[in-house]
Amino acid sequence: MKNKDLLNNYSNILLKNGFESPYLDVELLFSFVSGLSRVDLISKSEEEVDKKNLKKFEKLFSRRLKHEPVAYILGHKNFCGLDFKVNKNVLIPRFITEEIVDMVVDSIRIDGNIKNIIEIGTGSGCVIISIIKKILNSFVDFKFNFFASDISFRALKVARENSKYFCVENKIKFYRGNLKFPANKKFDFIIANLPYVDFDSVDFNKDNQKDLQFEPKVALFEKDNGFYLIKKLLKKIINKKLLNNEGCIFLEVEKGQSDRIKEEFGDYFNIEEFFDDRIVKLKAKS
Ligand SMILES: C[S@@+](CC[C@H](N)C(=O)[O-])C[C@H]1O[C@@H](n2cnc3c(N)ncnc32)[C@H](O)[C@@H]1O
Repeated sequence: MKNKDLLNNYSNILLKNGFESPYLDVELLFSFVSGLSRVDLISKSEEEVDKKNLKKFEKLFSRRLKHEPVAYILGHKNFCGLDFKVNKNVLIPRFITEEIVDMVVDSIRIDGNIKNIIEIGTGSGCVIISIIKKILNSFVDFKFNFFASDISFRALKVARENSKYFCVENKIKFYRGNLKFPANKKFDFIIANLPYVDFDSVDFNKDNQKDLQFEPKVALFEKDNGFYLIKKLLKKIINKKLLNNEGCIFLEVEKGQSDRIKEEFGDYFNIEEFFDDRIVKLKAKS
């Protein structure tokens, strides 16, 4: 079989089974086993597939056919241009979440004060690590303290590994716990992409939702229509006065949840929505 036939034949199988990006999935899996880049796959489309590689590819393909996400099969996922290690203990980083990273970096104003930045529910660490990498590129002489926490010990292990891989392990203090903040500190930026999906809204039999069964439930689902933890976090920030005067909170939410934030927390915060209401920025009212 030629490379081009492998790509066409196997992506057709995925297509017939209702997969959303069949060609890309097959390309990524075959690139992984063959070591050929996507450009190589075009220039070498007429070359015969190596038999050993075909066997390896078929093993990975059968996992994908059962809807295991490509990122888990390959063990990594690109986020903000960086390749993060992922496994079944962490949410696969989503494209929309990259917007939070840019918004945080764009919101930083140099005023001589040390900035405390924390991410609650860090998962793979992709958000806080990407923020650090961008900040280090732009604000060389400026002082920041970075913190990240998660309820999942296994997720934190992945976040720590990623922080080592990207050489920022000495810059982040990790904590484990339920909406955990380090004691006696206030923050300039609090970032959270907490689980916000209502479990009953997902139908695992639908083709485009089958992949979700592989991701950790603790990373995806929450009660009260997905709003429970977001509400708990905002109450905690208010009650424990965790935000500095000019500080901001950045949240990724489900569509519609920003209205609830406005209803329930409008007295405390000025609230702006971005990216089709999926990212919410809150600033304490003075
Ligand atoms: C939607 S994932 C986000 C992961 C990562 N920040 C990202 O954007 O890709 C939510 C994360 O929140 C964590 N989490 C769930 N409940 C939590 C809680 N009560 N306190 C802290 N973290 C929690 C999960 O373990 C998971 O890693």
